[in-house]
Amino acid sequence: MATAQLLSLTGVSKVFPGVKALDNVQFDLNEGEVHAIVGENGAGKSTLMKILSGIYKKDAGDVKYRGESVEIPSPYEAQRLGISIIHQELNLMPHLTVAQNIYIGRENRRPGGVFLDNPKLNDEAAKLLAELELNLDPKAIVGELTIAKQQMVEIAKAVSYRGSVIIMDEPTSSLTPAETDALFKIIRTLKAAGKGVVYISHRLEELAKITDRITVIRDGQYVKTLKTTETSIPEVISLMVGRKVDQDQRPTNRNISSEIVMKVEGISDRHLLRDVSFELRKGEILGFAGLMGAGRTELARAIIGADPKTAGTVTLHGKEVKIKQPSDAVAAGIGYLSEDRKRFGLLLIQNLTFNVILSSIPRFSKFGWLRIKPAAGVTRDVISQLRVRTPSENQFVKNLSGGNQQKVVIGKWLTRNCDILIFDEPTRGIDVGAKDEIYKLLTKLAEEGKSIIMISSELPEILRMSDRVAVMCAGRLTGIIDNKDANQEVIIEYATKFSDELPAVH
Ligand SMILES: Nc1ncnc2c1ncn2[C@@H]1O[C@H](COP(=O)(O)OP(=O)(O)OP(=O)(O)O)[C@@H](O)[C@H]1O
Ligand SMILES: [Mg+2]
Repeated sequence: MATAQLLSLTGVSKVFPGVKALDNVQFDLNEGEVHAIVGENGAGKSTLMKILSGIYKKDAGDVKYRGESVEIPSPYEAQRLGISIIHQELNLMPHLTVAQNIYIGRENRRPGGVFLDNPKLNDEAAKLLAELELNLDPKAIVGELTIAKQQMVEIAKAVSYRGSVIIMDEPTSSLTPAETDALFKIIRTLKAAGKGVVYISHRLEELAKITDRITVIRDGQYVKTLKTTETSIPEVISLMVGRKVDQDQRPTNRNISSEIVMKVEGISDRHLLRDVSFELRKGEILGFAGLMGAGRTELARAIIGADPKTAGTVTLHGKEVKIKQPSDAVAAGIGYLSEDRKRFGLLLIQNLTFNVILSSIPRFSKFGWLRIKPAAGVTRDVISQLRVRTPSENQFVKNLSGGNQQKVVIGKWLTRNCDILIFDEPTRGIDVGAKDEIYKLLTKLAEEGKSIIMISSELPEILRMSDRVAVMCAGRLTGIIDNKDANQEVIIEYATKFSDELPAVH
């Protein structure tokens, strides 16, 4: 197939109050091509894509679609041109079904009626989902699905427009390796049909598998476009961050005290968890590995009282504690960083300071008044420590890039100063450089005597960070492995121990 150019962007700039998000950026995309855009958190990737999909208006520059300069003033116009986008922050209606979300705004209405023609919608959705080999029930309510499944709904929705350009902004950040492979299959099909795919990801190892070219942007500026076959991950990283980042370090064998700070015994819940018991030691990082649906998040939520347990106890420093709701957990000194920051972690229309001190309000209050100065000071420390890209601590969190929002949630729990911290996928959506900063911070916290539970789906991260690795499968704890004995194969073996009993997914 002769490859024609689909998109060509030159000199694109965009300024937000206090932030030059894009400064003279160029990018192009051909038919049948997967072109990655990479860059640190806040580099401007999502902003560029929002300009292409009609959400933001560019301040300067030229966008050509099939050789002709176009204006894209609205998402509707983007769709009309054939550009669809899978947003980084999922954009679904939680109370509607999968089918309704896919076809939102385009539903077939009954003649003269307000009612949606649901059977027809469900049929269409079922056909589309089967075509994409996505295992989803068109009638399932989206709010009840896991983030990974919601991500798949977004993918189906973007494909359903049958356009020529599909933008994927971090589509794999909450997918398992198997789900990622399924997505890559869809991408290959799209490619073979001559579509162009713009692919954004912080999982750099994916680039070699799926992309043809890679464009690097840094601080809103165009750096370079590389052919995937002619570059390497270290080269991409150094172009992204402008400095060297050490990857793949194993933890030096730290001496963990034998003091047990938390003992979890026999936890079960109504749905998945079966008799989970483990001990957490002072100064330890205990990694939790397992496939999606293994029950790691459910376990964390049961421990902190976010979901009810049907059996089991939590003992802290030798004393059993009754944790009925998350505030009990916080009072007992347990912090929980949720995997779904938008729903549980952040107040988006508040500024950074308010979010950072959100769990530590008494510490920053006097006679019922919030003491703004120390709160702002602590927030500025978080900003510099985690390298949050923001004009100041007064910025609304909703205006931060996805990865920078995640850093704010981490900053919130660092500020709270808990003895026990449970981090659920702490580095999701975080760039390589900042990941390294977060790893160093977690290690430092552990060295100061805090105990950390780190749930992660990224095995290299688990292996690098954990003193011991707990593995779950089908709601049960299948093994706890010392760091020195841990490797990918052993973990996968424990993670699939009861694979024939894995719960059916809708
Ligand atoms: N609506 C907005 N108002 C103010 N600033 C914004 C807005 N949207 C984005 N920004 C800023 O523009 C910059 C680029 O953000 P963008 O979301 O494009 O980054 P990104 O490369 O997608 O990062 P990430 O990897 O974290 O998703 C950031 O500094 C961000 O805070
Ligand atoms: Mg982004």
